[in-house]
Amino acid sequence: MLNWDDPLGQQRSPMPAAAGACVSALPVASDDVSGTQRLAGDTMAAVRAEDKRVINGQADINQLAPFRYPWAWKYFLNANKNHWTPLDINMAQDIQDYHHRLSPAERHVYENVLAYLTTSDILAMRNIGLAVMEKMSAPELQIYQARQVYEEALHTWTYQHCIESIGLEQGEIYNRYRVVPQIRGKIEIANRRLDSILRPDIDLGQAEELENFVMAYVFFAAVFEGCWFYNGFSPIFALQRRGLMKGTAEQLQYIMRDEVMHCGFGIRTVKQILLENDVKLDPQALHDMWLEAEAAEADYAGFILREPILGYSIDDHNAQFRYIANRRARQLGMDEPFPGAECRLPWLDEQSNIRKEKNFFETRVTEYQTGGTLKWD
Ligand SMILES: [Fe+2]
Ligand SMILES: [Fe+2]
Repeated sequence: MLNWDDPLGQQRSPMPAAAGACVSALPVASDDVSGTQRLAGDTMAAVRAEDKRVINGQADINQLAPFRYPWAWKYFLNANKNHWTPLDINMAQDIQDYHHRLSPAERHVYENVLAYLTTSDILAMRNIGLAVMEKMSAPELQIYQARQVYEEALHTWTYQHCIESIGLEQGEIYNRYRVVPQIRGKIEIANRRLDSILRPDIDLGQAEELENFVMAYVFFAAVFEGCWFYNGFSPIFALQRRGLMKGTAEQLQYIMRDEVMHCGFGIRTVKQILLENDVKLDPQALHDMWLEAEAAEADYAGFILREPILGYSIDDHNAQFRYIANRRARQLGMDEPFPGAECRLPWLDEQSNIRKEKNFFETRVTEYQTGGTLKWD
């Protein structure tokens, strides 16, 4: 047991056999003549970058460098430039807006967007942290994903902070994904994908399993984060553009930057898996995925916008989903699922670039503009 008063003392004394359990988990060579344990294979040779793989790699995952995927490390460094907590943002005006300035239809939009997002972010956290990260075999990928897990937890805190600040009934809001079919529809699709890869018996050496895993990663990166989240913030941004709920919108701007990076990283990782492995995605399965996502999104939009609000419509929402879906498909190097879809919300992309927004809103965002030099999409 570690002595907290003298944590280094243990290292100076001989290690009892039982205490070396974590060391003995490493493969060891049998010709241990030096008194120190040696790694198996090419004994003490450093891991070579070219031996790393995104999945199913054999190189020792505990060696960070040399990098095989320097872009993954850059994602990690860039992610750390978008750092905030929900407590940094003043919510006082939002409380006033919600109770005295929003119409009933606008309150309905606001509450249900938060109800959907807060459940979604827990799913996103469980997906990347429990189902995806453990299957990666290069540490630079896992390190960004570890940051992503933290960010998803931070997003959940952010929604909780908004819900609590406004004074919404927490138990009721958090339960909506179960009782509102139009929210549950999206959550069930995501749960189905997650459940299919959150099994201890998965063997990514098998073609069918690998294809299913990649499809799930495509879904979470390109649809769930890249479209549903990206587009999901826009009703709140529409309120922000009219000077309403600006604190919440600012919180969502930070989250959006994270989500654009999660999407970009996921797509990059998927493309690398496709490059390294003999796996092809079924174009029909991809097309079906987009159509299912579009139908669920349209249902959801019909519910949250059952009564129109000023400056934002069901048509805008659905058209923008299709437009963003095409962008994600292009990023993946795949066919656009909705050819000819038009951009209905040209201001939405600007929301993910906070540097531009500082011209419109004098808020704390301006203090974080170091990250504004990044290309977010
Ligand atoms: Fe998130
Ligand atoms: Fe995310």
